[in-house]
Amino acid sequence: MCRSTYSPYIILLCITLIQVPNFATSLSNAFQERDRVALQAFKLMITQDPEGVLNSWNDSRHFCDWEGITCSPRHRRVTVLDLQSKGLIGSLSPQIGNLSFLREIHLSNNTIQGKIPGEIGRLFRLEAVYLSHNSLVGEIPGNLSYCSRLIGLYLGYNKLEGSIPSEFVSLYNLKELAIHVNNLTGGIPHFLGNITSLEAISLAYNSLGGNIPSSLGQLKELSLLDSVETTSAVQSLPPFTIFPCLLIFLFLRINFMEVFLQV
Ligand SMILES: *[C@@H]1O[C@H](CO)[C@@H](O)[C@H](O)[C@H]1NC(C)=O
Ligand SMILES: *[C@@H]1O[C@H](CO)[C@@H](O)[C@H](O)[C@H]1NC(C)=O
Ligand SMILES: *[C@@H]1O[C@H](CO)[C@@H](O)[C@H](O)[C@H]1NC(C)=O
Ligand SMILES: *[C@@H]1O[C@H](CO)[C@@H](O)[C@H](O)[C@H]1NC(C)=O
Repeated sequence: MCRSTYSPYIILLCITLIQVPNFATSLSNAFQERDRVALQAFKLMITQDPEGVLNSWNDSRHFCDWEGITCSPRHRRVTVLDLQSKGLIGSLSPQIGNLSFLREIHLSNNTIQGKIPGEIGRLFRLEAVYLSHNSLVGEIPGNLSYCSRLIGLYLGYNKLEGSIPSEFVSLYNLKELAIHVNNLTGGIPHFLGNITSLEAISLAYNSLGGNIPSSLGQLKELSLLDSVETTSAVQSLPPFTIFPCLLIFLFLRINFMEVFLQV
């Protein structure tokens, strides 16, 4: 009697167990398809590809085997996009925000034009963004602050404008902020002193102006602060006593700076 009472549940359980893997598989396929569509959209926005690296981005192979793509072994989702120094000319598709497993973007030393799409803020697994040595314009999207796992942001040598977004105060894992050689304005914000994870900040060759805020003295991990040519800031440098662990590099020659800031 007991048996017959429970059997419907057992049957139901069996059906569920059979169906769950199928459901999971089709869900996984749907997410993979989303990655594939996003990568195709990325490719469409690249107008010149002198080395033909994106030729391998065709449907004869799974996108995990395309050049510059690394996937997670289990879910087969894109985790790394690495097309550094490929001579690419084009702009960034907002669809990059659909690559929801993305942890690293390596696109330094190309000719990426246009703005950094705000959709990048949807990539909550993002840890490193290498976009230096490109032709990016517009403002640094404050939306990057949603990428709370972000450790390194490298945007040097572009044409970025506006100020350092105040939303960045919530980037509590950020260790390296490299935004040198742009057209940034609006001063060195006080709140940088609240991002206690910061180890290196490079701001040189912008039009930031203003002073180096004394709040930066709170950054116990900071070992590189490069703000050469923010002349007034250098003049107003607070006494060294408030920077207990800080070594200030004042690079006088841009060649010398390059050694440190090539990333
Ligand atoms: C598609 O990609 C493969 C390598 O993945 C390459 O050998 C082939 O030439 C490509 N096809 C086209 C039409 O570019
Ligand atoms: C930049 O990319 C070009 C190829 O487009 C390459 O020849 C050059 O060595 C790269 N520079 C650096 C510093 O990586
Ligand atoms: C991908 O992203 C774009 C722009 O952010 C959005 O409009 C579109 O619906 C997304 N596509 C899919 C398949 O999720
Ligand atoms: C900014 O990021 C949020 C959260 O990730 C996202 O919902 C929103 O669409 C983004 N805004 C833009 C303009 O992309």
